[in-house]
Amino acid sequence: MSTSKNPNIKYQTFISLFTVSCLISALLLIFWSKRGTGELLKKEGETDAQTLWTYMTVDNPYQQYPTWPGKEGFYESTMPPGNILKLYVNDLALDTIVNKRGVFPEGALLIKENYTDDRKLFLITVMYKMKGFYPAGHDWYWIKYKPDGEVRLEGKVDACINCHVGVAGNDYVFTGSIK
Ligand code: HEC
Repeated sequence: MSTSKNPNIKYQTFISLFTVSCLISALLLIFWSKRGTGELLKKEGETDAQTLWTYMTVDNPYQQYPTWPGKEGFYESTMPPGNILKLYVNDLALDTIVNKRGVFPEGALLIKENYTDDRKLFLITVMYKMKGFYPAGHDWYWIKYKPDGEVRLEGKVDACINCHVGVAGNDYVFTGSIK
């Protein structure tokens, strides 16, 4: 009779093993999906570079935003190697610039297109004000995109901050006084 019991035991073992592995897979999936979106989406109102790219190219194309006042169209960078720039700002940022509010509010978005001397777009650098993201750095979220939207750098990017910190008193912005 043991032969009739054995298959049952095996079946039960199989079921419990199956259940356990399902649970493990589910946990791994949850873990990985969290990793994929990163820590940054934990809090409401936070975003990441990919989400922002969709927002600024599909939902609300940035080429239709105002430019920094006085910087309409192409202009030359003050930094070597002297790229050609375009600088778009959203309405929140524009209000700060025009009314000299001294500090950009949550949601302010500055989008700088970087062109080669023969006016080929090669880089898009972005500053996005995300409340609570990094108070010591005035909550700026730094992003470097390739023109196709590929994210090269994002978040608290030391390379950006170390240079822009020179104008921390102007809310980390070089182009003009906002005070
Ligand atoms: C070596 C210094 C330096 C570094 C590094 C640097 N920037 Fe800038 N950035 C500038 C200067 C100077 C300007 C003003 C425009 C100009 O003359 O090129 C500027 C302008 C900008 C602007 C327009 C707003 C403003 O400050 O006037 C954005 C957006 C920006 N940078 C983003 C970035 C991002 C993102 C990074 C990192 C990937 C970065 N920058 C790295 C010097 C730097």
